Amino acid sequence: MTDRLIDKLIKERSLSKEEYALLISERTLKAAERLKQAASEVRDEIYGHDIFVRGLIEISNICVNDCYYCGIRKSNASVERYRLKSSEIIDTADRGYELGFRTFVLQGGEDPAYNDEVLCDIVRKIKEMHPDSAVTLSMGERSRESYRKLHEAGADRYLLRHETASPEHYGKLHPEEMSFSNRMRSLKDLRDTGYQTGCGMMVGSPFQTERELAEDLKFIEEFKPDMCGIGPFIPHRATPFRNERPGSAELTLYLLSIIRLIHPPVLLPATTALGTILPDGREQGILYGANVVMPNLSPVRVRKKYELYDNKICTGEEAAECVDCLSARMKAIGFRIVTERGDIRL
Ligand code: 5AD
Ligand code: FES
Repeated sequence: MTDRLIDKLIKERSLSKEEYALLISERTLKAAERLKQAASEVRDEIYGHDIFVRGLIEISNICVNDCYYCGIRKSNASVERYRLKSSEIIDTADRGYELGFRTFVLQGGEDPAYNDEVLCDIVRKIKEMHPDSAVTLSMGERSRESYRKLHEAGADRYLLRHETASPEHYGKLHPEEMSFSNRMRSLKDLRDTGYQTGCGMMVGSPFQTERELAEDLKFIEEFKPDMCGIGPFIPHRATPFRNERPGSAELTLYLLSIIRLIHPPVLLPATTALGTILPDGREQGILYGANVVMPNLSPVRVRKKYELYDNKICTGEEAAECVDCLSARMKAIGFRIVTERGDIRL
């Protein structure tokens, strides 16, 4: 059964929603092995064993949104809030440049203090000092005009996970003020504006079944994102989803292989969330078809505060240089981190 679906996926890079759902619900160890093998082959053809690195800078944990799954949602009164100064963000990028990073990801909650003027200024300064680097923003939903200004200031890429491609499911993960249509509008605006655009979802979020995941896969097939971030849902103790079950590492890996086969050139990270639920999760992610890792470059003093889910790794003093740790981890499985922007190879 799954053999036929896998043949078709490899040949056509496309399945129907019903077929995606079956490929998930009927999965076996053997199917996972086949997908892993096929995904590795297509990844190797495009990227070889080069792994792209992105220096992640968590610039603010202040957020106007209240997503039920997220540890930095505005209703969580138990987080100590912080916001990095512009100068500190720029210094952090400088340090990253010295360490070999050529992509910086500025990620934060939807913090109104980072209005267009402030954020454009930061982007412009980083690009001025390091013109051979890419700047990626991951700052949530903004207006089309704001996306345009930031792109003009030099931002190259934007990550905005779609979270779920089902409007009903979206409504169960978010409060009423947030809308599926604005998420989709944002993603289309980003693409139209000229960004390399990333979407993605959590695996095993509450109320998600193989039907919702099939919708996600169809969405990815049609949208053809430049980047796609997927990681397991992990409950956070101070959110409405505190008692929900975490997502599975095994299913996350299975989906990484499928996404690689749907859209072979996609930049696919082995995420921190995957490394949090499985000690060698990021290595496994690469072995199942991922080709990107995102070491944490944030100042150590804020790392614990940017806790979207419980037990996030890389938050201690010992994690000061995640890049060395990840280099060693990649080397141990026969891959190597490269110093380049790491654009998509279409
Ligand atoms: N578990 C896993 N991932 C999460 N994210 C937010 N909260 C959680 C959680 N509890 C993901 C969302 C968001 C990204 C920055 O982190 O998908 O888009
Ligand atoms: Fe952060 Fe290993 S990558 S400590």
